[in-house]
Amino acid sequence: MNRMRLDKFLCDMQIGTRSYVKDLIKKGQVSVNDTLIRKPDFQVNTACDLITCMGNTITYQNLYYYMLHKPSGVVTATRDKHVPTVMTLLSDACGKNLAPVGRLDKDTEGLLLITNDGELAHNLLSPNRHVPKTYYVECTGTLSADTVTLLENGVEIGDETPTRPAQVKVLTQLADFYTMELTITEGRFHQIKRMVQAVGGSVTYLKRLSMGTLLLDESLPKGSYRALTEQEIMGLKTR
Ligand code: URA
Repeated sequence: MNRMRLDKFLCDMQIGTRSYVKDLIKKGQVSVNDTLIRKPDFQVNTACDLITCMGNTITYQNLYYYMLHKPSGVVTATRDKHVPTVMTLLSDACGKNLAPVGRLDKDTEGLLLITNDGELAHNLLSPNRHVPKTYYVECTGTLSADTVTLLENGVEIGDETPTRPAQVKVLTQLADFYTMELTITEGRFHQIKRMVQAVGGSVTYLKRLSMGTLLLDESLPKGSYRALTEQEIMGLKTR
């Protein structure tokens, strides 16, 4: 399982194209366990061999984690016949089996984790784990103390059970408009919009700010993405 050709290993680690890395190997730029290897088909063990290319150690990575600042107008799916998907925004997604973790509506913006780590995705989405997700929400309607209490305690949205308790942080409150940060620990279909509707309001803008320990990097322009840092990955795995 951990064994593969040296040229494939270097390609997978994005050192360059197959012909480029073959050339590097033949020119004596690559060593395995401190021995120069000039054969592209040399078998390496990705779990324990020390592989260096042009003096740099290359560590095998086959799990990828990206944070996308999802813009409005793209659907959260791996493919769609009619509408652009979030995957079309990841230029180097090819061949990595990536998939979004959870779903944001087409008009929702903000944090979307995209990975090929199925175990992590499963853990983050599992209904038993109650992973908190915080959203910035703009609404029309009137926000009263009762409304806040309802949202906080759980509200009937037409499902079998009311929503689980949520956290509400009111940011702006006008006669017929309010903004808040709402933290929920479930992932029901259109959950925030339905919660707001259930208390007589209507969501006009929705943006996800965090998922578990992962916070949206606000320096990421809408539509762009970056790899997660080691610290961010560890945070998600150890929560
Ligand atoms: N709740 C919603 O209503 N929409 C989303 O996209 C996410 C949470």
